[in-house]
Amino acid sequence: MVIEHNVSLQPFNTFGIDAKAKQYCNITNTTVLSEILKTKNDQSFFILGGGSNMLLTKDIEALVLHINLKGIEVVNETDDSVFVKAMAGENWHQFVLWCLKHNYGGIENLSLIPGNVGTSPIQNIGAYGVELKDVFESCEAINIKNQDSRIFYKDDCGFDYRESVFKQELKGKYIITSVTFKLSKHHHKLHTAYGAIKQQLQDLQINNPTIKDVSNAVIAIRQSKLPDPKDIGNSGSFFKNPVISKRQFNKLQANFPDVPSYIVSDSMVKVPAGWLIERAGFKGKRFTDYGVHNKQALVLVNHGNAKGIDIYNLSQLIQKTIKRIFDISIETEVNII
Ligand code: EPU
Repeated sequence: MVIEHNVSLQPFNTFGIDAKAKQYCNITNTTVLSEILKTKNDQSFFILGGGSNMLLTKDIEALVLHINLKGIEVVNETDDSVFVKAMAGENWHQFVLWCLKHNYGGIENLSLIPGNVGTSPIQNIGAYGVELKDVFESCEAINIKNQDSRIFYKDDCGFDYRESVFKQELKGKYIITSVTFKLSKHHHKLHTAYGAIKQQLQDLQINNPTIKDVSNAVIAIRQSKLPDPKDIGNSGSFFKNPVISKRQFNKLQANFPDVPSYIVSDSMVKVPAGWLIERAGFKGKRFTDYGVHNKQALVLVNHGNAKGIDIYNLSQLIQKTIKRIFDISIETEVNII
């Protein structure tokens, strides 16, 4: 095991923040991972995956374990389904492309989401009508304290909207090393009801879309409104869409009749945070090197050399302003470090 010192994490977080790791170790196999957890058990660890859902506001004192475990394999098959195991360090979108190449269906709507396979269950990534939990079979994880290996099945994971047990009671306790997905081999069940996907397929005059067509539609939609972290640093949606009571929603609608909404249950309604932030006047606002994306107000951006703390302060200003104008609290989706 090689431990490097004062390593810049700029290439390893999609916000492109230049924070330093005091100690850094690139992990490419699980044996080394167990060994380092055991021999350095007097230390605290910072687990780094694809770096796509974090805002670094300071240097990291803990030992950074950069999970770069690689490999994709079919581990089981039935007449209709295939079980594919991908190691945690595989890039999420490359994994989606691998599945499309093999005509395995289920994650095409999750095309182009930044990050790695291993972090996908942590916040139950989701887009365009599909969530990770819909295709999740199990994941393997190592207990940081005693290095025991454990398999988590879907019911163990407490999946919810951008939530799982790994963000709650098991936060910081396990390192996910691989994820196994249950995908379809044929008769793929397509999810094309999302307005923008329907429109995109219509524009291209595709009547009987394949999973590749759906993926291409999603890629086109994402590219039209979400910034590519290679060009502009960002972490996708910075905030979660707030879920409020019907009573609170009726009050909001009385003041803002054009507010969009999605019914969550008989008593709860989800409101797009992007709409609230745009309505509060933040969309496209730029402060020196940081600001709010001009095509999707839910995304905060680093235009160059922004400091994490500046972006954090902006996020707080946005939260306070939304509270003042709409009396709604919006939570961050991104982990603030
Ligand atoms: N809207 C605005 N202004 C904006 C952005 C959005 O008014 O600047 C309103 C519009 O009414 C629009 C609605 O919000 O119709 C919904 O916008 P969009 O379809 O872009 O979806 P979202 O709710 O803003 C969520 C996810 C995205 C995911 C899309 C598509 C969350 C926090 N975000 O965004 O996820 O791609 O749906 O399914 O749930 C991510 O997590 O990083 C991410 C990009």
